Amino acid sequence: MSNGAAAHASELVAVAAERRWAWIVGAIIAVIVVMMVVTGLHWASMPPSRVETIDAKTLHLRGEFVESNLGTTLAPDGKVTARLVAQQYSFVPQCIVVPEGMPVTFRATATDVIHGFVVGTTNANTMVIPGFVATFTTTFPKSGEHLMPCHEYCGTGHEAMWARVQVLPRDEFLARARSGERLSCVAR
Ligand code: CUA
Repeated sequence: MSNGAAAHASELVAVAAERRWAWIVGAIIAVIVVMMVVTGLHWASMPPSRVETIDAKTLHLRGEFVESNLGTTLAPDGKVTARLVAQQYSFVPQCIVVPEGMPVTFRATATDVIHGFVVGTTNANTMVIPGFVATFTTTFPKSGEHLMPCHEYCGTGHEAMWARVQVLPRDEFLARARSGERLSCVAR
């Protein structure tokens, strides 16, 4: 075999390898695009068009996030909404009550810097950014209590920023929610 033929053969190997990698990379990109579409449509994760803003300076004074409106409510149509505010270094309310086996919509915002929270080992997980309302809906399959730590570094007190989430059996929650007040499990 001449030198020229050997060079040609190795070039063919290289081209085949590059083509193989091009297919692999193309497949990875396709999987990621499909994941984005599925999570966006099926899980209703927030695309930019659904960004909801709020004036962080007015949170304690008026509107949806005044203190008397924080906690969990049961609307007449059966929808459960848990509203909370994150601030350095606590959540209000400090203990959140939700029902077992019913969809719960969380609505949260921050007064000062970026915070976040995750509820135990569930899929309830969001960032909380001042000026924006973070919202997601999830269902807790089992009753019990979860810890809810802040998971965005927000300053020197970050690791002490926790709340608790009590998942009540459905009947117990409905009995307590019937009074119409904003529920929480903060000890009084
Ligand atoms: Cu709030 Cu970390």
